[in-house]
Amino acid sequence: MRVIIPPIKSQGIKTKLVPWIQALIPAVKGRWIEPFLGTGVVAFNSGFREASLNDINPHVIRFYKGVKDREITPGRVRDYLEREGGHLKKAAELGYTHFRAVRDRFNQTHDPLDFLFLSRAGFNGMMRFNRKGGWNIPFCQKPERFSRSYVTKIVNQVHDVACLIQPDWIFLVGDFEKAIREATKNDIIYCDPPYIGRYVDYYSGWTEEDEKRLFGLLSSTPARFILSTWHHNDFRANSFIDTLWSKFNIVTRDHFYHSGGKIENRRSVVEALVFNFPANIRKHNHGVEPKPEQMMLLEERAEYITQQVSRAYK
Ligand SMILES: C[S@@+](CC[C@H](N)C(=O)[O-])C[C@H]1O[C@@H](n2cnc3c(N)ncnc32)[C@H](O)[C@@H]1O
Repeated sequence: MRVIIPPIKSQGIKTKLVPWIQALIPAVKGRWIEPFLGTGVVAFNSGFREASLNDINPHVIRFYKGVKDREITPGRVRDYLEREGGHLKKAAELGYTHFRAVRDRFNQTHDPLDFLFLSRAGFNGMMRFNRKGGWNIPFCQKPERFSRSYVTKIVNQVHDVACLIQPDWIFLVGDFEKAIREATKNDIIYCDPPYIGRYVDYYSGWTEEDEKRLFGLLSSTPARFILSTWHHNDFRANSFIDTLWSKFNIVTRDHFYHSGGKIENRRSVVEALVFNFPANIRKHNHGVEPKPEQMMLLEERAEYITQQVSRAYK
């Protein structure tokens, strides 16, 4: 199973779980609604013609809206990364002075290309903002970060998502509640909120009240939904599975997170998908990891994109 990987990076990215999530998506006539878009990897591989994609983080939405509107093109991204990567390489303090300059500029102007730069030059592919909304991830400390091959890889990722974004995909900034309330019985909602009780520091926090509010909305939606959450790890269980989510169907799968600030979050975790429709899927799935994108040839990516786009038009 192949997965197209988007240009934006973040902790909690679902790349390795995409095939498992895809296997559960029911045949629906309506839209793909994703209230917690993050990097967009699940939506980009969903194959839907109509989608409503939302996040509270305005920077990810602005970036993908820019790609959709052809303001952010592969060519512009290449020019930008070659220029800024060149400055990074020559900058004092092993590149740090230029990283700081881009970060300070982004905090003032919110330029989506500076956002891409920070996402790809930050430590461990993490994304976090401080209370004032400023970028809060340190430099990866690699002045040669934007090598020719790395720039090409990012440019290809921008090209891939530009091909996958459909004319009827809308990008929205806001709280999840509005996005869920607009769903009708023909839609499928995929929710991947910050994981309650774990590392949740993306753009805003995530509280018990948020989890309960989400539960209330998903309990009363006429649409079908799939929710990603964690089930348990070596240390403890997600208590909200028992107290809230167990009234729905649940399947689980082992997963290993490679990034994350805290040691605890680097260990294996049992992931859960909670859903409100019947499905023929194994209760616990040890799963096969998708082939990494680096191994995917240009022709394979092109073929995959063509398949996704033609599926979207059925
Ligand atoms: C676990 S991440 C989603 C990861 C995504 N599925 C991926 O694979 O990249 C959770 C996302 O929820 C967003 N978020 C947090 N609170 C939110 C809220 N109240 N409403 C909408 N989005 C929110 C965060 O900005 C973050 O992008």
